[in-house]
Amino acid sequence: MTIYSKGETLLQVKDLSLIYDNKCILRDINFSIEDIIRPGIQQGQVVSLIGRSGIGKTQLFRTLSGLQKPDRGQILVRESRPWSLRPVHAGDMGVIFQNYYQFGWRTVEQSLMLAAHQNKGLMGREAEAILEYAAQFDLSDVLKRYPRQLSGGQQQRVSIIQQLLKGSDFLLLDEPFSGLDVCVLDKVVNLLLKVSLSHEFKTLIIVSHDIVTTVAISDTVFILGKQDGVEGSTIVRSIDLMERGLAWQPNVQEEKAFGETIREIKACL
Ligand SMILES: Nc1ncnc2c1ncn2[C@@H]1O[C@H](COP(=O)(O)OP(=O)(O)OP(=O)(O)O)[C@@H](O)[C@H]1O
Ligand SMILES: [Mg+2]
Repeated sequence: MTIYSKGETLLQVKDLSLIYDNKCILRDINFSIEDIIRPGIQQGQVVSLIGRSGIGKTQLFRTLSGLQKPDRGQILVRESRPWSLRPVHAGDMGVIFQNYYQFGWRTVEQSLMLAAHQNKGLMGREAEAILEYAAQFDLSDVLKRYPRQLSGGQQQRVSIIQQLLKGSDFLLLDEPFSGLDVCVLDKVVNLLLKVSLSHEFKTLIIVSHDIVTTVAISDTVFILGKQDGVEGSTIVRSIDLMERGLAWQPNVQEEKAFGETIREIKACL
């Protein structure tokens, strides 16, 4: 069993509720994400957020990212100097939305450059970083094109790179695997794993209907669902994959316990 421990809190969601037109969409959401510490390994966090269509995953992302104000509750993120937890601001988290949107009048390269300039850690190496990511994501040939000249899958990869270049510790990915063919899917999965290992505080929260792919690269699963007779969705279950020995295993999908965990998750939906 891999040795690990949990350190300081990176994200804390407290009693969050969201209401639209008197209808409760999200209710009493509480969870936190702690820094995972593994001796000798720089290890980020990968969390799957799973739930049926229409349950409120995208709304939770909008709220977590600070784009949507919750009706109740608080979202706190780690501030490094001095160390504290403070309310989230719009822009703290990189969000790759389900319906990714690019500025139509900018080429892919121009959009990526704009993102890279927001990352102080890249100072002077922006162009180089763009070329590296473009090569890894099979996008080298489309850098001079405009979004309308790209396929859906290409646009989606541009969105992912855009957020990676910005360098935020938190990345919220809404359906990052849809519309990708199998070859590109593997590349995106591997790149996300690389990103999660690039810094101790990097935290990826992934929403996907592709439960197997997402859970295979996660350390924790949160299930968003409904409780009988109550309006609004809430976290009905969380599963610690580290405790089960199912995190950070390259061939986890072949393990019996993994198959059982997937069945358990599906039964909650
Ligand atoms: N602006 C809005 N006003 C009122 N209700 C809304 C609004 N936006 C979304 N909703 C409702 O909030 C609920 C949650 O929607 P959300 O988009 O978060 O679902 P989801 O879990 O992301 O689904 P999917 O997996 O299909 O993307 C839905 O019932 C939706 O109809
Ligand atoms: Mg959605």
